[in-house]
Amino acid sequence: MATVRYAQAQDIAQIEALELATYAHEGYPKAFFYQALAQWPTGFIVYCEADQVLGYLLAAPGQANEHWIMSVLIAEQARGKGVGKQLMAYYLDGLAANSNEQTQIKLTVAPYNSAAIALYEKFGFKKTDFLPQFLGPDADRILMALQVS
Ligand SMILES: CC(C)(COP(=O)(O)OP(=O)(O)OC[C@H]1O[C@@H](n2cnc3c(N)ncnc32)[C@H](O)[C@@H]1OP(=O)(O)O)[C@@H](O)C(=O)NCCC(=O)NCCS
Repeated sequence: MATVRYAQAQDIAQIEALELATYAHEGYPKAFFYQALAQWPTGFIVYCEADQVLGYLLAAPGQANEHWIMSVLIAEQARGKGVGKQLMAYYLDGLAANSNEQTQIKLTVAPYNSAAIALYEKFGFKKTDFLPQFLGPDADRILMALQVS
């Protein structure tokens, strides 16, 4: 059975494996995920089938009335089946339910990552800036933002 829920400590080994499979040494390390779970439990969401974690989304507060989506990652074999959409919907619904104020959600994405850009545009995110070398010398990013109330 498929489930979307907040992440738990016992998910982290599988999240780390997902991260390694896609990003190798450039992914977030395990210790970061444990720290994220402590700091931002309502921004850390997983998609599971049976006991298998097939995707996660991690978001965190930024400046006042601002949140950042830091990562959305789906296992390669589960991509293109609506998992990313389910994680985004769960996160945005939770944020709307827990906030009375206007909030801006920001994220950055590689300019060539058309699948991710299409996913974010589906939820109303707009491209707002181009950030040269934002993640290092070879890593230009597009800034995208969504205003929610
Ligand atoms: C980008 C990613 C998160 C999308 O998740 P997903 O579960 O595959 O996406 P979904 O199946 O929910 O699709 C959502 C929408 O994204 C778009 N999309 C998904 N895959 C696409 C592809 N290969 N090409 C173009 N658009 C695509 C479609 O608009 C789709 O909506 P639709 O099915 O109603 O047309 C996933 O491919 C992934 O993990 N990629 C590697 C990591 C990554 O790039 N993360 C984002 C970093 S910013």
